[in-house]
Amino acid sequence: MKESYVFYQGKILDERDVSISVRCKAFNYGLACFEGIRAYWDEETNQLYGFRMREHYERLLQSCKTLNIKLPYTVDELIDITIELIKKHGFKTTTYIRPIAYKGSNKLGPTLIDDDDRLLIYCMPLGSYTGKDELRVAVTSWQRINDNMLPPRTKATAAYLNSALASLEVVSRGYDEAIFLTQNGHVCEGPGENLFMVRKGKLVTPPPSDNILEGITRETVMLLAEEELGMKVVERSITRTELYAAEEVFFSGTAMEVTPVVEVDDRAVGDGKTGQVCKKIKDLFFPITRGKNPKYAHFCTPIY
Ligand SMILES: Cc1ncc(COP(=O)(O)O)c(C=O)c1O
Repeated sequence: MKESYVFYQGKILDERDVSISVRCKAFNYGLACFEGIRAYWDEETNQLYGFRMREHYERLLQSCKTLNIKLPYTVDELIDITIELIKKHGFKTTTYIRPIAYKGSNKLGPTLIDDDDRLLIYCMPLGSYTGKDELRVAVTSWQRINDNMLPPRTKATAAYLNSALASLEVVSRGYDEAIFLTQNGHVCEGPGENLFMVRKGKLVTPPPSDNILEGITRETVMLLAEEELGMKVVERSITRTELYAAEEVFFSGTAMEVTPVVEVDDRAVGDGKTGQVCKKIKDLFFPITRGKNPKYAHFCTPIY
């Protein structure tokens, strides 16, 4: 293995020197929450830019609050630690950062009241998540968890079993990705990404009350559609067959970035090709991630 470092117990350590107990609550019961952050490499300026790091760490601390995980760090400190960790690797490529806050206690029982709260951060190079430019998706028979059950908003590790079951079902049937419906039958999101559709010229996306994770990329897409494309953006519940009738469908997420969906449940979306709105959003989004648009420079934290 190439040298890899991890922030663990307040220090940056060689990954090979980090071990977690078999009894750890995070491992036994999934008592943890996490973030996924990208830092984009720009060849031209020889710089790596952390994308919306502040918002990601604010969300992590908010998730910790719900899960009663107490971290002794501010958002600014978390950003500084992340910069230090990436610098230690010296990555000159687009990088994925994974902070995990968890219950480190080895005691038996799934309680969130123990005080052995820990933070671990690792990072790795990451190019395209799916390796595909366009996706064929299917609605999964697994329902999305809801806020009174296992709040999707918290990015709890345990919630990703719901995602994994959905992916297992549809990927083993030959699709690229799943779409969840809520218990009310509303379109929700993918296993690790938010969903948009274009209908009658408007950009529509499910509201937080339909049990989505309030994605940071989602917020960015909504902003760009409104500000730069002058589109009307609507947060409202979406029904399954609206996806069949949509002009466009696409996903957004840190790992997924902005990726068009060209087929839903074996039905072509629009003309079965990447739509114009998605294309325009992508054309705006990627230069912004690399600090190329002064209007959105505040989204980017230079690492080096
Ligand atoms: C379930 C789920 N929905 C949506 C997203 C997209 O959120 P973001 O754009 O903040 O990465 C993610 C990824 O974090 C996710 O895991």
